[in-house]
Amino acid sequence: LTLGILGSGSGSNMQAIFDAIQKGKLRARIAIVLSDNPDAFILERARSQGIHTEVIDCSPHRTRFPEEAQEETAAKLKRAGVDLVCLAGFMRLVKKPLLDAYHQRILNIHPSLLPAFPGMEAWKQAIDAAAPETGVTVHLVDAGMDTGPILEQEVVPILPYDTAETLHARIQIVEHQLYPEAISKFASENNL
Ligand code: GRF
Repeated sequence: LTLGILGSGSGSNMQAIFDAIQKGKLRARIAIVLSDNPDAFILERARSQGIHTEVIDCSPHRTRFPEEAQEETAAKLKRAGVDLVCLAGFMRLVKKPLLDAYHQRILNIHPSLLPAFPGMEAWKQAIDAAAPETGVTVHLVDAGMDTGPILEQEVVPILPYDTAETLHARIQIVEHQLYPEAISKFASENNL
């Protein structure tokens, strides 16, 4: 199982996947980490683990993912021999060229129980909505925003004194456990 990871931020989920591989809990290797943000900490973390990194040249608009940039991304992933793509805090919407290049082979992790609270800062949305609980979802990526078929979910309760920050921290602990497990399960079910 050869993974390619795309992220725009801190890369703690990438780190959790790497750690699960090191511990023998996930039989895989991370061939490449790509980011649309040259300053993202995910790149630094990956390099410090000896993982090959590349920057995707995107439009300055924060969430648009131009077709040429998607084609370039698909080419980089293919060159690295990637057979499963994992989005981990990647802030751009994946559309046709990349979706076609990796049909049913792109996963995402989202910090809510989808379909509730898609989009940005889902933990904050859950607090603002006074939801009794939220959670984590790993799903297959389609052309929508956080809409693809759900693979795994885990509930995270919202505690009386939770702030957006404390809730997000507890959600991340669950994410770091769930994502490597979901990748492992998906790979074995799909003979990857
Ligand atoms: C995670 O909360 C993930 O669910 C969301 O973006 C965040 C990425 O965090 N899609 P990190 O970069 O893996 O630390």
